[in-house]
Amino acid sequence: MSDTTSLYGNNQSPEQQSRIRIPHLQRMKALGQKWAMLTAYDMYAASIFEEAGIPVLLVGDSASNNVFGHESTLPVTVDELIPLVRAVSRTTRRPLVIADLPFGSYQASPEQCFHTAVRFMKEAGAHAVKIEGGVEMLPQVEKLARSGIPVMAHIGFTPQAEHQLGGYRVQGRGQDAQRLIESARAFEAAGAFALLIEMVPDEVATQISAAVSIPTVGIGAGVGCDAQVLVWQDMAGLRTGHLPRFVKQYADLRGVLLGAAQDFIDDVQMSRFPGPEHSFPLENAQEKNHR
Ligand code: KIV
Repeated sequence: MSDTTSLYGNNQSPEQQSRIRIPHLQRMKALGQKWAMLTAYDMYAASIFEEAGIPVLLVGDSASNNVFGHESTLPVTVDELIPLVRAVSRTTRRPLVIADLPFGSYQASPEQCFHTAVRFMKEAGAHAVKIEGGVEMLPQVEKLARSGIPVMAHIGFTPQAEHQLGGYRVQGRGQDAQRLIESARAFEAAGAFALLIEMVPDEVATQISAAVSIPTVGIGAGVGCDAQVLVWQDMAGLRTGHLPRFVKQYADLRGVLLGAAQDFIDDVQMSRFPGPEHSFPLENAQEKNHR
């Protein structure tokens, strides 16, 4: 890539642009240029986000809540996530696709982590993986990095440990701040290519971002991070009910879909759909030729 602005798209179509790779992201950090990451779990969302110029897509274990209808990220399995990662990596040419390793698929040992990550790379076409946790995950990060598997370490609030952490709580306050900064440095030393920092006070995330040379991606971690991530259904207004403080809604997709579905119902009930333009006449010479 000749210039970093092309990370956000240029005159070339996605087919003509090359894959975003980890050195691009590291160069963006060095140049102080910020980037945006979104989750994606399917073909249409992935291709729309690629067209918009999102350089990194995360197939998050948040698919558990946002695709499979569970209340937390804990139930989703490797076998359920693999087809979603495959859909996203198969549909896109440009974004770096990161697969989240689900709960229970990597914590037991570095070897378990390695085998799960390999499945996501071989069977699903992921370019990198993400794992959650504190310094107890350093051996896992080292094993992946030594094996040529790019790994993002997810620190701060780690949803897979919500029961241990006592619910959705801000991490890194008070004395915990120093521990978090030290763990960020340790993950960089272990070979992580980036850090995802969730629900941490802005000042602490800013200090972490300054303390490491790898990119930091924040969610509920303030504007001092090198990049920001949101779950796409939150960002686009598909989700209803209570939203976390860190979510900003950029659209009302739920309203748009609701309106479309209601218009469809009305049209069907009033016999306005299908119209002649959606129906097949008994005889149509032109169509006969083109069928
Ligand atoms: O799975 C997920 O969606 C995440 C978010 C924190 C982005 O990890």
